[in-house]
Amino acid sequence: MTAAQWGAPTITSADTQNPSASTLQQKRQLRSQMRQARRGLSKTAQKRAANRLKQQLNQNPHFKYAQHVALYLPNDGEVDTFPAILQAWSYGQKVYLPVLDPIRKGFLWFVEYRADSRMRSNRFGIAEPDPGFNRRIPARFLRAVGLPLVAFDSAGNRLGMGGGFYDRSFEFCRHQGTKPNLFGLAHQCQEVNELPTESWDIQLTAIIAS
Ligand SMILES: Nc1ncnc2c1ncn2[C@@H]1O[C@H](COP(=O)(O)OP(=O)(O)OP(=O)(O)O)[C@@H](O)[C@H]1O
Ligand SMILES: [Mg+2]
Repeated sequence: MTAAQWGAPTITSADTQNPSASTLQQKRQLRSQMRQARRGLSKTAQKRAANRLKQQLNQNPHFKYAQHVALYLPNDGEVDTFPAILQAWSYGQKVYLPVLDPIRKGFLWFVEYRADSRMRSNRFGIAEPDPGFNRRIPARFLRAVGLPLVAFDSAGNRLGMGGGFYDRSFEFCRHQGTKPNLFGLAHQCQEVNELPTESWDIQLTAIIAS
């Protein structure tokens, strides 16, 4: 596990600038390479990573003792969180999954996921708990969040799928107040030398590479 603490700079969305064409191109290329790498992992490697993640979260007091935690269901070769979800349920933690916000485009809702939750498929074909049947929690009440990464670097920068969903939904973490610990979850093979960063990228508490 690589874990470190990074301070969050105070930048607001008003500071966001248009990224240069070369940065966009670099990010596009990195996303394609890293997504291909994680999709190419064997079933055994995926299973090992899922079990490692479960152990890493079990050893992380900021996650283990958090009452309200958010994880995700894996897609596109992402680290499988299911063993960690089962573990969280067994400890009595409430687990939430991201759901595309139907009102504010580009934002996420967090909706409770239980073993018997009614699910639906979103426009990306990803399963989400149906918010008509499961409880929603404002993101600021989450205590720990495991976010999927496409790539990360040793300085703790993250590259996501490119939608800006997590960046927008956790922008409030730049401001004063209680905020969740944000843990970026990835396979070890997703580490790169140096990622291009943008003013709107949210800062992670730590990266957990499984
Ligand atoms: N707080 C924000 N407000 C408005 N637009 C934003 C914000 N954060 C990100 N965006 C927009 O989202 C787009 C994608 O951002 P970026 O390339 O950082 O995606 P990402 O970090 O890979 O995605 P994600 O956050 O879903 O993992 C950018 O064009 C950016 O302008
Ligand atoms: Mg970003």
